[in-house]
Amino acid sequence: MIDTHCHIDDPQYAEELEIFLAEQRESGVEAILVPGVDKTSAKDVLEVCDRFPAYLFPALGLHPENVKEDWQEQLRVLKEAVDQRMNSSYPLIAIGEIGLDYHWDVTFKEQQHEALREQMRWAEQYHLPVMIHSRDATEDTLNILREFPSVTGVMHCFSGSHEVAKQVVDMGYYLGIGGVLTFKNCKLAEHLVGIPLERLVLETDAPYMAPVPHRGKRNESRWMRYVAERLAEVYNCSVEHVVEQTTANAKALFVIKL
Ligand code: NI
Repeated sequence: MIDTHCHIDDPQYAEELEIFLAEQRESGVEAILVPGVDKTSAKDVLEVCDRFPAYLFPALGLHPENVKEDWQEQLRVLKEAVDQRMNSSYPLIAIGEIGLDYHWDVTFKEQQHEALREQMRWAEQYHLPVMIHSRDATEDTLNILREFPSVTGVMHCFSGSHEVAKQVVDMGYYLGIGGVLTFKNCKLAEHLVGIPLERLVLETDAPYMAPVPHRGKRNESRWMRYVAERLAEVYNCSVEHVVEQTTANAKALFVIKL
């Protein structure tokens, strides 16, 4: 399995990280992709990925919830880090996480749009996929993504409708499926019916979104197994097939050098 979205730079993992990662690997997690959320986290993400090369893979970006007064300064610093990293021997695997979020605050809506466009241009420039965060902003997000037809990526932590899932897949994007799929009363499983397994990738969004039976705990990449089990029910196939296919999908989207 490949965890395509994991905030392993979160301080909750700092203690005994080496042991933690060894446990993930032993449980079948081949690689973990680590997105940044602002200029401060960029440093942490690169640092932790450099400690575990060929296992942790970095992405950098400005998360929409972090688009505030200083967004232009944030982007300036991040672009420098992106440029530097793309000219190194251990380049980024994606730009992310980036997107739009209207859930708590729409004060910086226009700035979120501009920040997303700017970072989509970085993805275009370096031929990198993007990790998209979209919350209560589906239509605007998809419209901006459509302005960049040469860029593809993943709709991280997907929990939208069947219609939206279809639109995302038709745009050439993948759906990031995590713990939400295992939650009681969640309609996501129904919404995936008819969406090809070839368009799904697994993720945790750790430390958040731990799947049932660990809901509410600090998430672990190996627990994606529960998500894969649920997907096997939805797609009426073996768990092994789900794992093989979603891993192949992640490798097709991201250039992961193991
Ligand atoms: Ni995230």
